[in-house]
Amino acid sequence: MRLGSAAPLILGIESSCDETSAAVSLGDNILANVIASQKIHESYGGVVPELASRAHQQEIIPVVNQALTEANVQKNQLNAIAYCNGPGLMGSLLVGASFSKSFAYALGIPTLEVNHMQAHVMAHFAHRTEDQKQVPEFPFLCLTVSGGHTQIVLVESFSKMVVMGQTQDDAAGEAFDKIAKYLGLPYPGGPMIDRLAKEGNPKAFTFPHPKAPNLDFSFSGLKTAVLYFYQKELAKDPSFLSNRLPDLCASVQNTIIEILLDKLESASKATGLSRIAIAGGVAANSGLRKALKEKSGWNVFIPPFEFCTDNAGMVAVAGHRLYLESIFGKLDSAPTPRFIGM
Ligand code: KG4
Ligand code: ZN
Repeated sequence: MRLGSAAPLILGIESSCDETSAAVSLGDNILANVIASQKIHESYGGVVPELASRAHQQEIIPVVNQALTEANVQKNQLNAIAYCNGPGLMGSLLVGASFSKSFAYALGIPTLEVNHMQAHVMAHFAHRTEDQKQVPEFPFLCLTVSGGHTQIVLVESFSKMVVMGQTQDDAAGEAFDKIAKYLGLPYPGGPMIDRLAKEGNPKAFTFPHPKAPNLDFSFSGLKTAVLYFYQKELAKDPSFLSNRLPDLCASVQNTIIEILLDKLESASKATGLSRIAIAGGVAANSGLRKALKEKSGWNVFIPPFEFCTDNAGMVAVAGHRLYLESIFGKLDSAPTPRFIGM
C-alpha cells in the first residue's frame, strides 16, 4: 500500500470485448483509466472475435505502461491486479486473464477476478475527483445497458446483486448497433444514432413496444420492425433516408428509451426504491440521461462518461472490494464467457 494511505493500489485490466483498458486505482480513486478502442471492427459492422483478441495482445502492454505512467505509480508499488474474467468473448478475456496472472505472479501480488456486469454497477463508486464522489446508498436499482447485456439489478450491497429482469434476445446496445447497420451507419451505431437523434423529431415515427414478461426485455422485434418500415419507406421514396435520417434515429432512440424506462418504473414500483442508477455503454446515451434526469420522484445516479463504456476503472473498483474481503484469484481459474450470475 502507498505510504500513509490505507487504500490499496490496484491495477485494473478490462479486455472482455473490443476495448483494451488498464486503470490504476487507490481505493476507489481512479488515478489513470486508459482505454484503447479497437477501430479494426468498424469496417465489419460489428466485433470480429478473432481480430479482437489479436488487437488485445498488441495493445495490452502499451496500455498498461501508459496507465502506470499517468498514475505516476511503479509496478512494484501495486498491491493487486484486478481483471475481468467474464462474461465476454473467450479469446479476448484470455488475453487479459493471462497477462494479469503472469504479471501478478512475477510481482508476487494477488489477482482479483472481477465479473464484468458487477464492474459496470461498481462504476458508480469510481471517482477521479471529490466532486464526482456521489455514490448511491444501498439498496438501489441499476439498469445496466450495454452491447451484450440489458439488466435491471437490485443492488443490496457490494456483494449482493440480484438480477430482477434481463433481455430475452438482443441487448439494448445491440439494437442500436444493428439498426444503425441497416441504416448504413458505422459501428458502433449507438453513439451515431445518439448524435443524429439530436437533430430529429422523436415522435416522427412510432414503433411497437415488445411484450416481454415481468421485468424482462426484448429488442429483436424492434430491430425487425425498423428494418421493414425503412424498406417500405425506401420503396415509396428512394430519398427517404437522406431526408428523414435524423427523424428515424430520434424515433428509434425514443422507443428504446421508453421501453427501458417503462420496465425501470415497474421495478421501482415493485421494490419501492427510487434510487435509480444506470450503467454500461448505453448509459452514455444523451437521450436516456436526459429522460432519467427529468423523472420526478427519482434520485438518479449516472456515472461519469469514461466509466460508462467498457473501462478498467470499474474493474479496479470492483477488485478493491474483493481485495478488502481477501477474495483472491487463482492461477488455474479460467474465464467464464457466458453470464452465469453476479
Ligand atoms: O458497455 P459497453 O462499452 O460494452 C459492452 O459491454 O457491450 O457498451 C457498448 C455498447 C454499444 O452497443 C454501443 O453502441 C453502445 O454501448 N453505446 C451507445 C452510446 N455509446 C455507446 N448507445 C447509445 N448511445 C450512446 N451514446
Ligand atoms: Zn460492458
